Amino acid sequence: MSSHVSISVVVIVLVPVVLLLNSHVGLCSCYKRIFSFGDDSMDTGNFVHLIGKNASKYKEAPYGNTFFRHATGRMSDGRVLIDFYAQALKLPLIPPILPEKDSGHFPHGANFAVFGATAREQLFYSGSPWCLGTQMGWFHNMVDRIAPRDAAKKQFLSDSLVVMGGIGGNDYYSYFIAGKPSKDGNIIPDVIAYIEHFIEELICSTGAKAFLIPNNFPIGCFASYLSRFHSDNPEDYDEHGCLRWFNEFSQTHNEQLYSAIGRINITYPDVKLIYADYYNATMEFIKNPGRFGIGNPLVACCGGDGPYHTSMECNGTAKLWGDPHHFANWDGMHMTEKAYNIIVEG
Ligand SMILES: *[C@@H]1O[C@H](CO)[C@@H](O)[C@H](O)[C@H]1NC(C)=O
Ligand SMILES: *[C@@H]1O[C@H](CO)[C@@H](O)[C@H](O)[C@H]1NC(C)=O
Ligand SMILES: *[C@@H]1O[C@H](CO)[C@@H](O)[C@H](O)[C@H]1NC(C)=O
Ligand SMILES: *[C@@H]1O[C@H](CO)[C@@H](O)[C@H](O)[C@H]1NC(C)=O
Repeated sequence: MSSHVSISVVVIVLVPVVLLLNSHVGLCSCYKRIFSFGDDSMDTGNFVHLIGKNASKYKEAPYGNTFFRHATGRMSDGRVLIDFYAQALKLPLIPPILPEKDSGHFPHGANFAVFGATAREQLFYSGSPWCLGTQMGWFHNMVDRIAPRDAAKKQFLSDSLVVMGGIGGNDYYSYFIAGKPSKDGNIIPDVIAYIEHFIEELICSTGAKAFLIPNNFPIGCFASYLSRFHSDNPEDYDEHGCLRWFNEFSQTHNEQLYSAIGRINITYPDVKLIYADYYNATMEFIKNPGRFGIGNPLVACCGGDGPYHTSMECNGTAKLWGDPHHFANWDGMHMTEKAYNIIVEG
């Protein structure tokens, strides 16, 4: 096994995202494929495939209207994070795995992310059975089918980029709505342990060599959190109007994730680990929305009335408050393509 891959852990804030993806990684064409795992911020059609003929607002307008002009199963008005990574690496958009699970050759990679996915097993969460472990199972089946021999497997993964997340947000959300918002954040180490375990599994069993590992968003600035966990105490809000302790919770997750990356870095020095700082990239447009052409960054573009436009869910009869390009939040829980683009490209 070659060990010429340089060791580096890169902390990405807004400007370095541009440098890393557009010049460093993009120009060197290091990565022929992307394999991605994660949740709502990354799903490009796996969830709507899984539910089959069942109805879902994610199958209908206004989802997808901005870029695709039709709903694609993305939880946004247009492209999501993985689409912008593919574009930055000059690859075609990465297909969701499930529609072609048994036949696809995935020359540019595949996306395993599913709406509602958690890092931990389903027993912690009733909303979605498609946790990271399930996504890993799909991944191993695909690799066994496309590159059955060990050497082929290692070769296949050696020039691929693995995007590991966003993941964890649904573990926390389900924990909070179950009425256990506890400031000590005692489920965080468990979530981090799962993420760390799956990264190590990909390194050891399939020879993955490069990872992009995103941290958690400032969830205290999300319309859905702001309306559900509204507080009458002004001290619960920061100067931007975000719920302080949810952001502190995200920061605790992020510190522990960074430590986990440090441990992996020491154990596997020939693996390249890129820490993608979504938290600070998001805070840029929360602090200075006008610089990005965004109005109020805390309110949903699609929904209903109320201080955060969340009195109704976003669906075919919901209210659209304006051009999604002027909003960061799409439907209360998910961001607009505009916001995802800022996060990836700056
Ligand atoms: C479709 O909806 C029905 C009724 O809610 C449910 O029992 C079933 O599991 C769903 N099917 C899928 C594939 O999600
Ligand atoms: C990763 O390891 C290298 C040395 O092997 C070190 O220079 C670097 O600081 C480490 N990064 C982190 C985040 O631990
Ligand atoms: C990112 O945000 C955290 C929390 O606000 C802060 O402590 C840290 O210094 C920021 N990192 C960078 C590189 O700006
Ligand atoms: C949209 O959601 C609202 C509830 O927020 C519901 O009353 C309405 O029937 C839904 N519209 C469609 C087209 O599903």
